[in-house]
Amino acid sequence: PVQVSKICCIGAGYVGGPTCAVIAFKCPHISVTIVDLNQARIDAWNSSDFKLPIYEPGLVDVVKHARGRNLFFSTDVDKAIQEADLIFVSVNTPTKKSGVGAGFAADLNYVELATRRIAAVAHSSKIVVEKSTVPCRTAESMRTILEANSRPGCRFDILSNPEFLAEGTAIEDLLAPDRVLIGSLQTPDGLNACESLANVYANWVPKERVLTVGLWSSELSKLAANAMLAQRISSINALSAICEATGANIDEVAHAIGFDSRIGPKFLRASVGFGGSCFQKDILNLVYLSESLHLPQVAAYWRQVVEMNEYQKSRFSKTVVDTLFNTITGKHIAVLGFAFKADTGDTRESPAISLVRDFLSERAYVTIYDPQVEEAQIWLDLSEACPLVPLETIKKQVTIASSALDACKNMEAVVIATEWKEFREINWDSVYKNMNKPAFVFDGRMLVDADALRAIGFKVKVIGRGERV
Ligand code: NAI
Repeated sequence: PVQVSKICCIGAGYVGGPTCAVIAFKCPHISVTIVDLNQARIDAWNSSDFKLPIYEPGLVDVVKHARGRNLFFSTDVDKAIQEADLIFVSVNTPTKKSGVGAGFAADLNYVELATRRIAAVAHSSKIVVEKSTVPCRTAESMRTILEANSRPGCRFDILSNPEFLAEGTAIEDLLAPDRVLIGSLQTPDGLNACESLANVYANWVPKERVLTVGLWSSELSKLAANAMLAQRISSINALSAICEATGANIDEVAHAIGFDSRIGPKFLRASVGFGGSCFQKDILNLVYLSESLHLPQVAAYWRQVVEMNEYQKSRFSKTVVDTLFNTITGKHIAVLGFAFKADTGDTRESPAISLVRDFLSERAYVTIYDPQVEEAQIWLDLSEACPLVPLETIKKQVTIASSALDACKNMEAVVIATEWKEFREINWDSVYKNMNKPAFVFDGRMLVDADALRAIGFKVKVIGRGERV
């Protein structure tokens, strides 16, 4: 196997940035260059005050340690490709917006462009690693493109090495992964390439956690893992609807079923719905794959996971309207949290966006606070969510606050959309004093102590609890 000494990572986003920064951190003998076409993003990675383009706990420390030593960020894609022995492709693979498979299939345009760039500029052999989440058999297409365009004497080995990190705990996950999965062709060359990459991870990941499988299994395992995780959330959310209707408590139900060792206690928290750039996209991708394979029942099964999530979000919005005496027109609602989960600034597919959109269409006034999301991002997300409404109109209905306390002033209701720890710790007494009465709290994340809030005087509605407010 090739001894890897130079790595290039194409794509400096939520995956490429943290994964390759951790490789550099753990492998001082390997030079790692992360490249991107987006100059602003690269400038942020290189900024002298470490204002990095993404927020992840612990990321700054890793970058501080390795940047300039063996970790580099650049827009010179070609040079980094030419110098590397191993290239990670970590570009975005969003859901297609138009054409065949629109709304379901993955848009592989960025993967293909990056692959073609590798073929065009490489003048030595490379191991090319799919890090992006891709449909099953994408490695085959990459190989065809690379082989059809390579120079004489250049060999390309393709590996699949999907990323399982979760945003918000990316650095923790990367430093101590549950497993690292590497898929390769089961040929001598394929297995050699697999060993080269496994040797990189061996610098910090215990051997028994590095799983090696065939290429297609590896690609499918990533889609399967995300589908199963999202399905678990949709299952508990479906049960939360039953709890609200019957008077059962989803927390108690989750606790009770989680004790079964076959089910396990993790990832059983009911919420206003899952978000993030991956779950929905990857399931829709699996649905599309199933349909292409003429497996309509399988497609319908997985599609229902996404539909349940949509239902959960709209059900929550409806609860807010119903509870506020069936109208929120002209009322003032604070939305605490805009990121799709705590400890990230990422808003892609955030349930908060759907909630705010629903509140705006009921002509409520909304004040938003999130400790990590930039104002500009909120305006962008709301414009995209309400394509028919001009931004000026949205701005007349929406205010962005700089603290949770400010956001809640003079409101009729507070909606907790993201489970930021600071929302549990805010001074609810003073929130209550400054709100219009009756003062409502809608907890979409089972975050606050509902009884303590009721003792202050709040009317509290928690997801998955049948009790009256
Ligand atoms: P991202 O959008 O944050 O980053 C992708 C980057 O690639 C962008 O900065 C873009 O400018 C750059 N790029 C696109 N085409 C390029 C090209 N031809 N040359 C150079 N740079 C190029 O996306 P993110 O979230 O990092 O996701 C990347 C992949 O990883 C996706 O396939 C995603 O499904 C997968 N993934 C994401 C996870 C997450 O938590 N965000 C977790 C696991 C996998």
